[in-house]
Amino acid sequence: MGPIGVFDSGYGGLTILRDIRERLPEYDFLYLGDNARAPYGTRSFDIVHEFTLEAVKELFDRGCELVILACNTASAKALRTIQQEDLKNIEGNKRVLGVIRPSTEIIGDLSTTGRVGILATEGTVSSNSYPIEIGKFSPETKVYQQACPMWVPMIESNKYSSEAGKKFIREDVESLLAQDEDIDVIILGCTHYPIVKDFISSIVPENVKVIAQGKIVAERLEDYLNRHSEFSEICTKNGEVHYLTTESKEEFDGNASSYIGETISSEHIKLG
Ligand code: DGL
Repeated sequence: MGPIGVFDSGYGGLTILRDIRERLPEYDFLYLGDNARAPYGTRSFDIVHEFTLEAVKELFDRGCELVILACNTASAKALRTIQQEDLKNIEGNKRVLGVIRPSTEIIGDLSTTGRVGILATEGTVSSNSYPIEIGKFSPETKVYQQACPMWVPMIESNKYSSEAGKKFIREDVESLLAQDEDIDVIILGCTHYPIVKDFISSIVPENVKVIAQGKIVAERLEDYLNRHSEFSEICTKNGEVHYLTTESKEEFDGNASSYIGETISSEHIKLG
């Protein structure tokens, strides 16, 4: 028995955790932010895999039976190898799920023009995971991508609302929309980006929907737990959350509390 593990390179996964807790308030969660080594988005495939596997093992060692990679970069670059190769060597009965699949399954239904845009890290964009996955569920949809390499560092360092921060965001959003004037849906393909969602919504044309993944991931997780009672039965349910960070506890507690609107007290850990 144990909590559900939620992993991100930093603060972004908190945006997913918030929506999962809203939908599944009875479950316990263990959040791990590898803030000291964020951003992952510009790192190589091998390093993202190595860091993500270390985090997954840590969450398994602390009793998690199910881990959500609440990070698109890790889902794009490490999930498949972990699911297909690593799991059987470490904990064959445990499960690791990602965040890309849920939104790609429904994106076709959200767009009326059949033109969708993805804002994501360089790693997620270069993996092509979004166009590949969307192509499976909605082959007629045209997918445009824009890498936003400055956004995660700006959010991790709390500089996203400065004038310079807004300029970077505006430039990347404009570059995405310039690729096709009929784009009517933008997926925030990085779990950090909901933190700047209001600003993005304020600068796009009115007909463009800006979609964060949290609610979609939460709904799919509930569905997964309903279909897999072998997991829902071994997840503890006291409505508790514990936070781990590789950064200093004080730094994490201050920033995380402002993102999730409640005071938290995390534990500092070392990975690797
Ligand atoms: N939240 C991560 C994602 O969804 C950010 C990755 C990074 O650290 O660059 O991609």
